[in-house]
Amino acid sequence: MHGGTLLTALGSVGCFLVLFGTTALADFPEPAKLPSNPELPDPLVMLNGERVKTKEDWVTKRRPELKELFQHYMYGHMPDAPGNVTFKTERTDKKYLDGKATKKEVTIAFGPPDTPKLHLLLVIPNDRKKPAPVFVGANFHGNYTVTKDPTIPLPTVWVPNGTKDIKDNRAAEAARGFQAAVWDIEDVLSRGYAVATFYCGDVDPDRADKREGVQAHVLNKGETKPGPNDWGSVAAWAWGIMRTVDYLVTDADLDKDRMIVVGHSRLGKAALVAGAFDERIAVVIPHQAGCGGTAPSRGKVGESVKRINTSFPHWFDANFKEFNDQVDRLPFDQNGLVALVAPRPVLFTNGVEDTWANPEGQFQVLQAADPVYRFLGVEGLEAKKMPEPGKLIDSRVGYHIRLGKHSMGKDDWKVWMDFADKHLGK
Ligand code: GCU
Repeated sequence: MHGGTLLTALGSVGCFLVLFGTTALADFPEPAKLPSNPELPDPLVMLNGERVKTKEDWVTKRRPELKELFQHYMYGHMPDAPGNVTFKTERTDKKYLDGKATKKEVTIAFGPPDTPKLHLLLVIPNDRKKPAPVFVGANFHGNYTVTKDPTIPLPTVWVPNGTKDIKDNRAAEAARGFQAAVWDIEDVLSRGYAVATFYCGDVDPDRADKREGVQAHVLNKGETKPGPNDWGSVAAWAWGIMRTVDYLVTDADLDKDRMIVVGHSRLGKAALVAGAFDERIAVVIPHQAGCGGTAPSRGKVGESVKRINTSFPHWFDANFKEFNDQVDRLPFDQNGLVALVAPRPVLFTNGVEDTWANPEGQFQVLQAADPVYRFLGVEGLEAKKMPEPGKLIDSRVGYHIRLGKHSMGKDDWKVWMDFADKHLGK
């Protein structure tokens, strides 16, 4: 048990929730002591076996419990928003892209002075009468790769090798704009949306061998150094998205009620975590996020929990590794994370050839989250079976699969914008 005042005993599995001031810390059972459940656990049943009966129970008991469970057993504990987040607009160009847009580059700083800073690239359409809805998401290689703009500085932190001239994990001029088709900014602007993106490595370079991201600097309450069940990289990237949202809600050019989080693959996992934990985000679109994101941990197709924990040990916390050979003991599955998004719209998008991300299992995750949407009095997943490729299920719990492989581009953006138009209005 952690010290402090014991407020609630959660019963059958011997679990206690203890509050320190305002922070709830859960002392949950060891993984091996959790009951085995081969099915996706019902998000409307509490850890102690009690069924959620009212919306109030959902909001005041089960939602907080699920957030604790996901942090404790999988993603690691994320610190609260730091009180000292600051924003500095480094460059503004009101005549960007031949006058079609306004570009802003904003530095987001937090924590002690040596904490890594987040560099946000924001492109906002000029042809509009109201504040713009905005897509927000992390990118894989640096802001300078998402457009050909020569003024965007190269990241100075570690970047992945293997593309263009990038060697020794240092960003290279030759890579400028090489992700422009992935981000498709001009099309997105032409449909009235703004785009906000930052390099994921600003908050956490994706390295298994070294913790050099925000986790090393921003600690959970009461700690002097990071613990084994503190946030891994997926949670750190999600936390970075939330700090970006801290800025976005202050920008009068943007509609703070129409923010959509997107992300591809590992960054799709982060998009879903951010959407689940941050209710300021209106629509959540993880793309091909797969295991550890949108695919069931209990899935039998594609990447397994054991495999992801072995290849990418830094993405999750120490507890998650305990489930490598006993995923049936996880007290939740990814439908519980979607349930945390409810009643807000969510869309999973996939590619037929991307079986590593288990597109069918993802559909089952949505089916198993649907009851929570219904319970909260809104529409859920309006499809009984997987749609054929190219047909968008655009209900509040949405799904799409297209032909093709693991990638992100124009065709995906079109689907995301159709979904956002439907749920947020044009
Ligand atoms: C690997 C990993 C996936 C991840 C993907 C990506 O394939 O196994 O879990 O989603 O990389 O981020 O591209």
